[in-house]
Amino acid sequence: MKKVSVAILAAGAGTRMKSQTPKVLHRVSGRAMLDYAVLAALEISDDIQIVLHHEFDAVKAHIEREFGSRVACVAQDFARFPGTAGAIRAVLPRYERVIVLNGDMPLIDGAFVKALASRGEDIALAVFSCLEPSGYGRVVIKNDRVLKIVEEKDASEAEKKITTVNGGVYNFSRKLLERYLLRIEANNAQKEYYITDLIALAAADNKSVSAVWGDEYILMGVNSKEELSKAEAYHQSSLKAKLMNAGVAMRLPETIYIDANAVFEGECVVENGAVILGKTKIVRSVIKAHSVVEDSQIIDSDIGPMAHIRPNSEIKNTHIGNFVETKKAKLSGVKAGHLSYLGDATIGEGTNIGAGTITCNFDGKGKSQTTIGKNVFIGSDTQFIAPVTIPDNVIIGAGTTVVKDPNEGDLVLSRSEQKSIAGFFFKFFGKKE
Ligand code: UD1
Ligand code: CA
Repeated sequence: MKKVSVAILAAGAGTRMKSQTPKVLHRVSGRAMLDYAVLAALEISDDIQIVLHHEFDAVKAHIEREFGSRVACVAQDFARFPGTAGAIRAVLPRYERVIVLNGDMPLIDGAFVKALASRGEDIALAVFSCLEPSGYGRVVIKNDRVLKIVEEKDASEAEKKITTVNGGVYNFSRKLLERYLLRIEANNAQKEYYITDLIALAAADNKSVSAVWGDEYILMGVNSKEELSKAEAYHQSSLKAKLMNAGVAMRLPETIYIDANAVFEGECVVENGAVILGKTKIVRSVIKAHSVVEDSQIIDSDIGPMAHIRPNSEIKNTHIGNFVETKKAKLSGVKAGHLSYLGDATIGEGTNIGAGTITCNFDGKGKSQTTIGKNVFIGSDTQFIAPVTIPDNVIIGAGTTVVKDPNEGDLVLSRSEQKSIAGFFFKFFGKKE
C-alpha cells in the first residue's frame, strides 16, 4: 500500500456535549473517542497529525500518554480560521494522499479506513444512509456524480430530506487540497470554514469525486451525550460478539459491560450484570452476576456474585464470594466466601477468610499492608490492624482484633470473657414464660 498522511480533526469546542471534558476525550467502552480514530490511523500511516485547539494541553497530554511520539499534535489558528477547513490548514502532509478523520467517530474501524485510503480519485469521501440524518451534512448526488455537501444549518427543506450523509472521512489528493483549501470562504450559517466545501469546488472543476459507502455502525459521529450512549451501545455489542466468538460465555450479554482494554484467555464465563473495567485480564475464570472487576488480574478463580474487585488485585486459584471487596490484594489459593474487605493485602495458599474479615488498612493518614501466610484459618469478624504479618499455620478465633504479629502455630484470640447473669431477662421484662 502507498504511504498516506492522516489528519484527525479534534479542535472543536464540542459545545453540544455540555461538558467540562473536551468532547474527543469522552469515553466509549473505556477509551477516549479520539483514540479510536488514532488506532485506525495507525493501521495505515506513519504520518499522523491531530489538529487541536480547545483544551489543547489536556488533549495533547492524553495523546502522549496513550500513543507516545507515534502521532503529532498541531494547532489550528482558530481565531482566524474556525471550522473543519480551518483545521486542515494546520496540517503539513508528508505524502501525496491525505486521509482526514473526525475525532468524534468512536466506531470507526481500520478496515474501512484502509479501503478508503486505497482510492485514487481527487476526492473519495465516506457516505452512509441514515434514516434520521439530522445533524449530518447532506450529500447531493446527481447521476452518480457527487456535486456538493450541504450542512444541516444551510440546507433547504428539500435538501434536509436527503438521507445520504457525509461520514466525515475523506481521502484527498494533496495537490487538490493545496489548490482549493485557500479558496474556501466562511459564507454560511455558522461563519466557519467548512472542509465539505471542497467537494463543490472540485466538482465544479470536473475533478473526480467519489462516494464510498459505509454504514452508521462505523461512521456515526457523536455530538451529544445521547449520541455518546448510542455509540457505546453499538460498540459494546460488537465487542461482546467478538469475545463470545472467541470462546467467552456470557449470560444475558446485553446486561454486561466490558471495557475495550479487557483481555480474556482460555474458557471464561461472565454472568449477567457483570462490569469489567480498565486493563483487566481474566484467565479461565468465572465472573458471577453483578460483580465489578477493575484493572485487575483474575486467573483460575471464581468471583461473586456481587463482589467488587478494585484496581491492582491479583487473584489466582481463589474463590471470592458475595459482598467481598478487594483492592491491591494478592490472593493465591484463598477462600473468601462472604462479606469481607481485603485491601493492601497479600494472602497465601490454603488460607480461609471468615465472613466479616476486614483489613484495617487506613489509619486516617496513610495506608498499611496486611500479610497473611499459608494455611491460616481466620474466624468470622476478624480485624487486622495494619501493618501486621501473620505467618503460616495460624488459627485466629472469631471476633479477634489482631494488633501484633503472632508466631507460626499460634491460636490468636482477643475476646473478652463471656459473662451470663442467670434469669436477667425475666427480671428485666417482669414476666415469666
Ligand atoms: C461534520 C461535517 C458534516 C458531517 C459530520 C460527520 C463539516 C463542516 N461538517 O459535522 O458534513 O456529516 O461531521 O460526523 O465538516 N473540528 C476542528 N476544528 C474546528 C471545528 C471542528 O478540528 O474548527 C473538529 C471537531 O473537533 C470534530 C470534527 O472536526 O472532531 C467535526 O466537527 P463537528 O463540529 O463535530 O462537525 P459536525 O457538525 O458533526
Ligand atoms: Ca460531529
